[in-house]
Amino acid sequence: VLTEPLKVMISGAPASGKGTQCRTIVEKFGLVHISTGDLLRAEVSSETEIGKKAKEYMENGLLVPDEIVTEMVMARLSRKDAMENGWLLDGYPRSSSQAQSLEERNIRPDIYIVLDVPDEVLIDRCIGRRIDPATGKIYHVKNFPPETKEIEGRLVTRPDDTLEKVKSRLETYKRNAEAVSSTYLNLLKKIDGNRQKEIVFGEIESLLLKVQLEKEKARKLE
Ligand code: AP5
Repeated sequence: VLTEPLKVMISGAPASGKGTQCRTIVEKFGLVHISTGDLLRAEVSSETEIGKKAKEYMENGLLVPDEIVTEMVMARLSRKDAMENGWLLDGYPRSSSQAQSLEERNIRPDIYIVLDVPDEVLIDRCIGRRIDPATGKIYHVKNFPPETKEIEGRLVTRPDDTLEKVKSRLETYKRNAEAVSSTYLNLLKKIDGNRQKEIVFGEIESLLLKVQLEKEKARKLE
């Protein structure tokens, strides 16, 4: 390998655009996307033991217990592809104890990105969100309508995207956000996520390119 792989964390309130940005980041940087929300939803839909335990928490907008999520993330991070290609951790850590679990294992990102979006926009984004189960692509009834009738016909709404549940998820986020970001203060980059997704991505891209360059330089000095 020429350079050490990038390690990126992306954080932000529900519907701040993490999943949307991650799809483009993965395309451009080849990182392994580890989304705890996606991993948990997959467990729920295949009705595994983990899924059965996680379901109720998720449906109520609460954090799934640490022991379940942390084990899942550690297993995924230690796989060969993540070690070789670098990783993009989305939705973890979400509490100070989860951040501590990473610190204890000496797992630190190169950069900690926070997408900043006002509450009223977040609620509208959640309520209008639709997912294509065939491709995983994220749509929005107004902002990003599906390209074809065929896609439109198969779109689904997430069970936790009701007004009441969104409010509860937002509260959970606010309760924990500061404790998590305080662990990564020196790596934190706050980005205004209330702009066109291409513009948001442009900013993320230039930050990641800069970090990559710095890592290369540091490596040459070793
Ligand atoms: P998770 O899946 O992580 O949900 P979340 O944090 O609430 O985030 P979302 O997936 O809702 O939003 P997003 O930021 O990805 O936005 P998106 O790109 O889709 O977690 C779900 C649940 O799992 C949790 O509640 C919890 O129970 C559990 N869980 C997960 N991680 C856990 C952990 N570590 N510990 C314990 N429990 C855990 O965009 C949203 C909408 O906006 C879309 O419609 C999109 O098209 C639109 N949009 C995106 N960008 C823009 C833009 N720039 N302009 C206009 N519209 C946009």
